[in-house]
Amino acid sequence: MEKIVVVIIGAGPAGLATSACLNHFSIPNIVLEREDCCGSLWKKRSYDRMSLHIAKQFCELPHMPFPSNAPTFMPRIDFINYLDNYASQIGINPRFHRSVESASYDQNAKSWIIEVKNTALDKFEFFAAQFLVVATGENNEGLIPEVPGLDSFQGEYIHSSQYKNGNTFSGKDVLVVGCGNSGLEIAYDLSNSGAQTSIVSHRPVHILTKEIVLLGMLLLKVLPCKLVDYIVMLLSKQKLGDISHYGLKRQTMGPFYLKQTTGQSPTIDVGAIGKIKTGEIKVLPSVMRINGKEIDFQNGKTKQFDAIIFATGYRSTVRNWLQEGEDLFNDSGMPKRSSPGHWKGENGLYCAGFARNGLLGISIDAQNVAKDIKLALSQS
Ligand SMILES: Cc1cc2nc3c(=O)[nH]c(=O)nc-3n(C[C@H](O)[C@H](O)[C@H](O)COP(=O)(O)OP(=O)(O)OC[C@H]3O[C@@H](n4cnc5c(N)ncnc54)[C@H](O)[C@@H]3O)c2cc1C
Ligand SMILES: *[C@@H]1O[C@H](CO)[C@@H](O)[C@H](O)[C@H]1NC(C)=O
Repeated sequence: MEKIVVVIIGAGPAGLATSACLNHFSIPNIVLEREDCCGSLWKKRSYDRMSLHIAKQFCELPHMPFPSNAPTFMPRIDFINYLDNYASQIGINPRFHRSVESASYDQNAKSWIIEVKNTALDKFEFFAAQFLVVATGENNEGLIPEVPGLDSFQGEYIHSSQYKNGNTFSGKDVLVVGCGNSGLEIAYDLSNSGAQTSIVSHRPVHILTKEIVLLGMLLLKVLPCKLVDYIVMLLSKQKLGDISHYGLKRQTMGPFYLKQTTGQSPTIDVGAIGKIKTGEIKVLPSVMRINGKEIDFQNGKTKQFDAIIFATGYRSTVRNWLQEGEDLFNDSGMPKRSSPGHWKGENGLYCAGFARNGLLGISIDAQNVAKDIKLALSQS
């Protein structure tokens, strides 16, 4: 059993940022990561054309700025390089191939006992830590909804996290399920690659551009949320037109109000709306059932497809391995309390990266967690 002050689980942006903030206070910590690299979500589970949707000034992690010549909306590869440099310059050496299988609190020893599978050596390892930081992400596992008849589908179906580019879909009929950020961008990418693309809109969304979101984020510093929402919705209507004309369900509550109260992000248009207007991308209502190659939709129509991409979101998997922490996480593995105050549990348990506020939320969590651990150590 290896003893350490802080164990951080996950070497994504949240785990790295927390480690950096602890290092800054000279608090010993280790990062356990099941994959063989930092930032695995960005390296292995995101599509080629992705870039940050949020402007760079809101995405920097603590203690290391982005290069001064970085573009406002950083391409995926630049962000990956930043994460790798972040770990090496700050001196974070995650233990890779370590999949956390269970963690529980030992009342007598007053420490967290963490059981880890070393997948490189195929053996178990044990760690004892005074503090445990969960940084395994809100986007841990791709979620595919239960669709009647999906098993019978004769084409290929994947989750958006497995989609890289449209190369293999050229000339095929492809259905993208979901109108969130991944769905809309993947539909655009598929259409550019020569796929006959349709997209299912099954829940109301706000569609904005990166620039409008940036303006909104800047205005939020000086204006009330209601007014910012009003301005942003007006601009988006001016820029993109009334999306409800094209079969997309429009959200009625303001986008920033919705983000703050429910965590739901507005969808960023990177060109798909233009293609929806020209009919290059078709909008369809919810899928009712699948039968071989045929898919039935809510409007009574049936259409054949060669492939389906489910851009239907993710789930947290904390509940699979964390034995305690009911005070911090609910049954879905998301924080029980809303932010702020969502990141601290009992007995030295913390989480970072669960504020549903992207990289900005991650930076704030990491700093809060490190400060709180520093305070707890100074009092003990
Ligand atoms: C497609 C996509 C685009 C996004 N774009 C933006 C954006 O433009 N701007 C923005 O601010 N935010 C964006 N986000 C949201 C958020 O910033 C990212 O998801 C970010 O990577 C989250 O960081 P994280 O460290 O919390 O989680 P992750 O990056 O998911 O890292 C968690 C790590 O924990 C590891 N792990 C999980 N379980 C275990 C276990 N049991 N044992 C060991 N290791 C484990 C995983 O392998 C992973 O490496 C995006 C999210 C997605 C999905
Ligand atoms: C857990 O919390 C999240 C975020 O607030 C919420 O969306 C989800 O429905 C909750 N799950 C349960 C089982 O309460």
